[in-house]
Amino acid sequence: MIAARSGTTAYATLLLLGVAACAIFATRSAAADPALDAQFRHMLLEDFRSRGVATIDRLDQDEVQKLCTDTRDRPSGATAQTLLKRQEERIRWPDDGRFMGDWRAGEKLAQEGRGMTWADRPGGPTGGSCYGCHRISPSEISFGTIGPSLLHLGRDRGSTPQMQRYVYGHIYNAKAYNLCSYMPRFGTSGALTQQQIRDLVALLLDPGSSVNTRNQPDRPKPP
Ligand code: HEC
Repeated sequence: MIAARSGTTAYATLLLLGVAACAIFATRSAAADPALDAQFRHMLLEDFRSRGVATIDRLDQDEVQKLCTDTRDRPSGATAQTLLKRQEERIRWPDDGRFMGDWRAGEKLAQEGRGMTWADRPGGPTGGSCYGCHRISPSEISFGTIGPSLLHLGRDRGSTPQMQRYVYGHIYNAKAYNLCSYMPRFGTSGALTQQQIRDLVALLLDPGSSVNTRNQPDRPKPP
């Protein structure tokens, strides 16, 4: 599902945001059977060790992940609405109301997979590893397909202030929009800063960015 990428460290972030994501993916299928669930957790605890900044508490599910596991990603009713609201409240919007940064910096971040793994320095630079799950700029032909294609996002859906706010919020905390989203909560988890999220919004929405420029070929020309 995730294409191999040369020379970069996209896999690292999938691991980072990842150990937890693994737990989420895997526990979903075991949720129907509490005995299997317990067995699976035991297996995870045997196999994963806290090391560096990657600590074992990443396997702990929060209230949203638990609900999604228990309902197999089909939460409904008042509880789901309450949790959705709570996730929305966890988004810290920029004080000055600016959602767009520098799209070139955003492209680098989208490519970058380093950060928050056991091999990384605490507080060291982190990337978004967005290509691990999304198609984004047409020049990058290696990308994952867990998430929808974001190619031409601004061109297709506009870059109005509302759209900027939506994209900012979605990167900050995807679960405020889609409770059982597989997308990591980049702002809420502290993986990305406000400025980094702004740069990514610009990558996706700036009319001049590589994602939205009209004369960009969909695929690089063969040599
Ligand atoms: C582990 C996979 C994964 C990673 C990594 C990931 N996403 Fe996502 N993303 C998804 C999925 C799945 C969805 C669709 C579900 C949802 O709405 O959250 C999504 C949805 C989105 C949307 C909403 C698209 C729409 O049509 O409304 C945006 C914007 C987005 N992602 C941006 C990003 C950016 C920027 C990054 C990197 C910082 C990123 N994503 C990293 C999985 C991922």
